[in-house]
Amino acid sequence: MMPSPTPRYTIPGLTTKNGQQLVTLLSARLHALNDLALTLKHIHWNVVGPHFIAVHEMLDPQTSAVREMADGTAERISALGGVPQGTPGVLVSERTWEDYSIGRADAIAHLGALDLVYTGVIKDHRSAADKAGSIDPVTEDLLVEHLRSLEQFQWFVRAHLESTGGSLSTEGTATEEQAARAASPARKAAAKRPAKKASRSKK
Ligand SMILES: [Fe+2]
Repeated sequence: MMPSPTPRYTIPGLTTKNGQQLVTLLSARLHALNDLALTLKHIHWNVVGPHFIAVHEMLDPQTSAVREMADGTAERISALGGVPQGTPGVLVSERTWEDYSIGRADAIAHLGALDLVYTGVIKDHRSAADKAGSIDPVTEDLLVEHLRSLEQFQWFVRAHLESTGGSLSTEGTATEEQAARAASPARKAAAKRPAKKASRSKK
């Protein structure tokens, strides 16, 4: 991601160089949060199977909270003298990850993949909070506040993937598809089955 331009002014007590560093950090977090809010809705729309309503309804409060986080992040960028970039084209051109890869799928498969999505967002948010902390405790505090909720939301997801012994079904997976299969025995079985030949119609 390109560093943001140095702002003309910034928050009192910070240099414009500090302001620029914070705007660069927050711009990446804004993209991650906007992307997460859209991904949560995508899952809300594409979840199927016997646990549909539980997952469909669990995700709406998470979406609302993540949208609020994006709003707070964008407004902090403005307060710092920067320019928040909220359009889809800029998000896609500047993000460092691929689109969420699962379409229509059963609830537990989506939750397996979503666990991995939260892991990525939380890791990067923690790293940004750490970097912000050496410049500005107020920006750090904003990110830490987000993390409290993001980590709680990941626990909501993980509670579905956890055995009574305390291990996660998705442990050791590296991609969303791997995580979805590890979480969902039905998806794993379907992946092993040979693809059906197209039925031939008589002429
Ligand atoms: Fe809805």
